[in-house]
Amino acid sequence: MAINIPRGTQDILPGVVEEWQYVEQKMREITKRYNYSEIRTPIFEQTELFQRGVGETTDIVQKEMYTFEDRGGRSMTLRPEGTAPTVRSYVENKMYGDPNQPTKLFYIGQMFRYERPQAGRWRQFVQFGVEALGSNDPAIDAEVIALAMDVYRELGLKHLKLVINSLGDLESRKEHRNALIAHFKPRIGEFCSDCQSRLEKNPMRILDCKKDRDHELMKSAPSILDYLNEESQAFFEKVKMYLTDIGVEFEIDSRLVRGLDYYNHTAFEIMSDAEGFGAITTLMGGGRYNGLTEEIGGPATPGIGFALSIERLLLALKAEGITLPIEKGLDCYLVALGDSARDKSASLLYELRKAGFTADKDYQDRKLKAQFKAADRLNVKYVAVLGEDELAKNVINVKDMATGTQEEVQLSNFIEYLLERS
Ligand code: HAM
Repeated sequence: MAINIPRGTQDILPGVVEEWQYVEQKMREITKRYNYSEIRTPIFEQTELFQRGVGETTDIVQKEMYTFEDRGGRSMTLRPEGTAPTVRSYVENKMYGDPNQPTKLFYIGQMFRYERPQAGRWRQFVQFGVEALGSNDPAIDAEVIALAMDVYRELGLKHLKLVINSLGDLESRKEHRNALIAHFKPRIGEFCSDCQSRLEKNPMRILDCKKDRDHELMKSAPSILDYLNEESQAFFEKVKMYLTDIGVEFEIDSRLVRGLDYYNHTAFEIMSDAEGFGAITTLMGGGRYNGLTEEIGGPATPGIGFALSIERLLLALKAEGITLPIEKGLDCYLVALGDSARDKSASLLYELRKAGFTADKDYQDRKLKAQFKAADRLNVKYVAVLGEDELAKNVINVKDMATGTQEEVQLSNFIEYLLERS
């Protein structure tokens, strides 16, 4: 029986992988402009990192992790997200000691969550994320959001909605937490079992419940924005001001709570409101996570970041009918006829590549017509034909596929000839 790919994963094949490379290149360009450097952390970490970092009460930790025991009996987990590993590395490598703070990092890498697969939801997906550690300046919140918007906009997306909220600081959250418990407790029996267990542990997460979202108590639930203390309020005002100053439009949604435990102050998501995007509209999510470094055993350091998946980004591009300007094709295809011409074409091909051309030749011993067809499929600029006659005269026949013109070129001059035309 044939062996199939695991559910919720995909092969990214030639023809599509070029789209991935294009968007990844765009991300690298933009992060460079914003002065973020790449970090690459392992694909698996100690399970405890996510239990402590992402939070015991989250869906990710409770239901979605790929956790296994290694041969040494240690519990390991395939990373479900990139923030906790980045912060672990920041602490472990004492990046806080670098005089250039904040430390601005980005990553592009596979993440793993055991979720129910559907359009835009995979069990293995690639997140592009940025994390800025070491600054409590609300301007960096706006910078991080602007960076994400730039990625989407520069790829051509228009149907974007940025939603922001403030979850406040610890003090504000404590007040809000008490208010939420008082609000839901009398009727918690009407909620799902997840919400019932969230009531005492993390009542804010009730607001994010998909099963109970239409319950009447949801709409009347106390808003975090009414519980922000003066400092949190002032911080949020500044974030909004900076976003407005740079022309980034946003909506405020006091019910935006995010699914991970480490957030405080700014929380944000970017959605697609393109028709045909599908049920899952969230393209990207992020927020501030002051306190996470301490959770992971490092010195108190503020942090903020976001992550988006390339899978959802490509879906959004499709929904908006955007084709990426990907260059296809080869500079030159060598067509050889006869044994000695075939032999000669092997070294000629090597010379072409050494000179910097993208080039290929037939390896199937095909007839002239079939070789031309292959060249056509490859979308080549020049087809160079080397037959026994040409070889005898030390020439090669070069056909410009765009104009259809053909020229006999001295073999010794062949590379030069193409260089002049490129
Ligand atoms: P998250 O909201 O869990 O946040 O995920 C961020 C993004 O990853 C989502 O908006 C979505 O684009 C993508 N994503 C999540 N799960 C899947 C999936 N199963 N299939 C495809 N795409 C998915 C985080 O992961 C935080 N670490 C973000 C962050 C960084 N916060 C601060 N810094």
